[in-house]
Amino acid sequence: MIETAQAFGVDIGGSGIKAAPVNLEEGRFAQPRLKILTPAESTPQAVARIVRQELDHFEVSPDTPVGIAFPAPIKPGHKLDFMANLDKSWIGTDVTEVFSQECGRPVTVVNDADAAGLAEQQFGAAKGKDGLVIATTLGTGIGTALIYDGVLIPNTELGHIELADGRGDAEKYAASSVRDQKSLSYKKWARRLTKYYGLLEKYFSPDLFVVGGGVSRQSDKFLPYIEVRTPMVPAKLRNEAGIIGAAYYAMLKRTK
Ligand code: BGC
Repeated sequence: MIETAQAFGVDIGGSGIKAAPVNLEEGRFAQPRLKILTPAESTPQAVARIVRQELDHFEVSPDTPVGIAFPAPIKPGHKLDFMANLDKSWIGTDVTEVFSQECGRPVTVVNDADAAGLAEQQFGAAKGKDGLVIATTLGTGIGTALIYDGVLIPNTELGHIELADGRGDAEKYAASSVRDQKSLSYKKWARRLTKYYGLLEKYFSPDLFVVGGGVSRQSDKFLPYIEVRTPMVPAKLRNEAGIIGAAYYAMLKRTK
């Protein structure tokens, strides 16, 4: 791994497992990222094996902090009890254990949206922002991070709030994957997002929404059509936020 990197980040998503060495002084990749497709059967063994391949690919030294952004609520020392978008056999496992075993070194695991929110707060669109920031990731699912005066309140699962009128689980109605599956236009999708962000606004009175996930690259196509009163900005680190935030979180945990 090249010398400007101080930590290594991995972001596990429903479609890809992405990794890169991260320069934490500048909050950017120290080398171009590697993406390996998430296996159709995304079991603990299959996913952990890919993470090990990525560590090998970048020749990550044993003393480099390794952070993994994972799409489920993560409580260290507890077994996983909820999984929306990877294989259900993750439920009942100790996720940190699974990765540490396969990678042959201790790793730090953090919820993927929390990682992205932390990165935006430290290096991106929410930098220096006081009050309540709700950072969201729109992808296979919807992830959320609540950050109040710079402090993360971890493991919020607001992608799963129930929408009114029998629409049910929010991410099954408004995630970016739903826009793809249903071939919704950006404007139509923005109407769904208005319903979603409107509820978050009603319940939490945030000071800022940060909208992330791969689709934030296209933010000019849908952000202007989401009708909320709260200021709303696209994520600055875009789809890199999960990797950068996971690396940052691993470094924080290491120095504690
Ligand atoms: C999961 C969250 C995750 C989000 C984004 C949701 O389905 O429950 O933990 O942050 O997807 O990946």
